[in-house]
Amino acid sequence: MAKPQNAFVCQSCGAVSRRWQGRCDACGAWNSIVEEAASGGVGAQPAQGARKGRVFDLAKLGETDRPAPARVLTGIAELDRVTGGGFVAGSAVLIGGEPGIGKSTLLIQACAALARRGERVVYISGEEAIDQVRLRAQRLGLSDAAVELAAETSVEDIVATLSRGARPALVVIDSIQTMWTSLIESTPGTVSQVRGAAQALIRFAKSSGAAAILVGHVTKDGQIAGPRVVEHMVDAVLSFEGENGRGLRLLRGVKNRFGPTDEIGVFEMTGRGLQEVANPSSLFLSARDQAAPGAAVFAGMEGSRPLLVEVQALVAPSPLGTPRRAVVGWDASRLAMIVAVLETHAGIKLSQYDIYLTVAGGLRISEPAADLAAAAALVSSLSTIPLPADAVYFGEISLSGAIRPVGHAGARLKEAAKLGFRSAALPGAGEREDAPRELELRRLKHISALAADIGAKRAPRSASASASRAPQSAREA
Ligand code: TYD
Ligand code: MG
Repeated sequence: MAKPQNAFVCQSCGAVSRRWQGRCDACGAWNSIVEEAASGGVGAQPAQGARKGRVFDLAKLGETDRPAPARVLTGIAELDRVTGGGFVAGSAVLIGGEPGIGKSTLLIQACAALARRGERVVYISGEEAIDQVRLRAQRLGLSDAAVELAAETSVEDIVATLSRGARPALVVIDSIQTMWTSLIESTPGTVSQVRGAAQALIRFAKSSGAAAILVGHVTKDGQIAGPRVVEHMVDAVLSFEGENGRGLRLLRGVKNRFGPTDEIGVFEMTGRGLQEVANPSSLFLSARDQAAPGAAVFAGMEGSRPLLVEVQALVAPSPLGTPRRAVVGWDASRLAMIVAVLETHAGIKLSQYDIYLTVAGGLRISEPAADLAAAAALVSSLSTIPLPADAVYFGEISLSGAIRPVGHAGARLKEAAKLGFRSAALPGAGEREDAPRELELRRLKHISALAADIGAKRAPRSASASASRAPQSAREA
């Protein structure tokens, strides 16, 4: 019989090779290959002789007598929105985020909210001592919640403990990288350990009906560290993002077997933990310098919710042969396309200029509907004409220069009107959306009309003062 051989496993992608190498062939990562003891993994069947197959029953796809899976609602609306209406009983959710972003804070708050609703909730910390967790709960004013705590890292011990007593509604494992199982010989934190521990915990969730939340660290480039396979094993992957220096935090669905993935939850980190932000548009627009050229308000959509956000551009003469193009929060190739379309179809020459484009508030926009706002910000910065403070922009720009209609125009316009905006530049064609009456609509069919629109809409400073107060009052309301 062949002697079991150790495997060399890439810690970044999980690829297995027969010998050590400096660079992983599968994902290209350097210095990521670690020798691990060969093992069948948790739950692997011992090698047996040929086994006769067991006959099982096949179910009907359309079987309707089964109720929808039970949901565990936390009552934190921003969290419940992202999960698609609460954590599903018996499912596993992976929450990723950079260190210090607030994962532990969010989850202890969710645990406390559930415990106050009378559910059994268990929070297992593999990183912090019980006293540290207690101290944080005290700071958050959650000491009275009946959350059960443990500082443990052995998966077998955790599963054995959880299997005793009433079935918990929610189990939080903070974090999956610190967990280890004795069935696998490699050190905690390696791919096989993370995978094995996740497998055991997911199996426990499925068999017991508890919802398991696994916290995962992310690497510098934003990937959840450890094997990507954990992302495939769980039912939902949420990503907790935000700028570390600022209070704003976004919870985003990356994968969800039981709900949408385009929803975001918005939180603000305060001295008393994470507070929900029910009206994120006002927060994203709060620090706006309305008289500055190069800033356009984009009426965007995040999932089912409209979200207004500022797109800022700086166009500056370039001393370099190849001008700089830097983008934060948007797609760099999309910017290159907009620049080319402006040059070709609107006669706006940008090739001698450095261009910087930023989406304010740390938001990442992937909607093509932001094209028009980005173009408006660019033209405004180049011409040093500030855009009207009370105007929003949305529309997709095609390579021909045509401004194409986008979805949810009605919802975007309604949100703009709600926040006190008075005009909107939008695609010329498309659905006749029932726009709020107080909004002046400027329909642009082609990118060549944009420069004229910006020049024509220049508001004198005195007139813009009253307009700029309007969004502010909506925020206070
Ligand atoms: P934490 O939840 O420990 O982050 P993670 O688990 O993702 O590593 O959050 C740590 C940060 O949050 C820390 O830098 C301090 C900040 N914080 C507040 O600003 N207010 C609070 O009430 C709490 C509990 C933390
Ligand atoms: Mg933590």
